[in-house]
Amino acid sequence: MELLDAIRNRRSIHEYKKEQVASEVLGRIFSEAAWAPTHRMKEPWHIRIYQDEGKSEYAKSVLDSYVRQGFFEGYEAAKVDQLASGIRDFLLNIPHHALIYMERDKDFRKFEEDYAAVCAYIQNVQLLAWKEGVGILWTTSPYLYDAEFARHMGLDPGRYKLVSVLQMGYPKRVPKPKSRTPIQKKLQIYDGNEKS
Ligand SMILES: Cc1cc2nc3c(=O)[nH]c(=O)nc-3n(C[C@H](O)[C@H](O)[C@H](O)COP(=O)(O)O)c2cc1C
Repeated sequence: MELLDAIRNRRSIHEYKKEQVASEVLGRIFSEAAWAPTHRMKEPWHIRIYQDEGKSEYAKSVLDSYVRQGFFEGYEAAKVDQLASGIRDFLLNIPHHALIYMERDKDFRKFEEDYAAVCAYIQNVQLLAWKEGVGILWTTSPYLYDAEFARHMGLDPGRYKLVSVLQMGYPKRVPKPKSRTPIQKKLQIYDGNEKS
């Protein structure tokens, strides 16, 4: 697959088949993605994959976070149970959840460099996965900003930033592309000549 094809045709996937992605395939994706640019060679990305039985505890922590953040406030108990079990089933039906996190550098500039490198890493993961027929949704859900959720995951929120959870699996449906703005509307070239 050509690079341009992967860049253009990769889509964010919201619906997955039940089938698991083999661990060799996941290994290849997460390993090759590490060729992402990384200032000071810090390679700041860390990955933790929840799958199989590991998803239950993860889903529970997500639901606890939603409760803490008041998502279920105002609903009757029966409705809360229904909503919670819907979210739980939705999460358990996704084959893999890859939590991507990084250590927080106290220097803001270095923190931003690290965050940028982790984002470059994630895009590499997305493109490599696409090449293997594997779909991903890059998520930045509210629980990633909930310190208590990080503690439940065993990660000290003062030390680690939770960057994303990548939902992963073989796509059941590939959404239509959303068009992009022609870059001429955003691109300016200054070459010393008067603009016409
Ligand atoms: C930093 C970042 C965070 C994102 N978070 C979410 C998210 O929480 N939920 C979601 O449905 N999509 C999320 N997306 C995916 C975008 O919505 C998606 O890339 C966009 O709609 C364009 O669709 P495409 O990736 O199929 O081209 C995120 C993308 C990025 C780059």
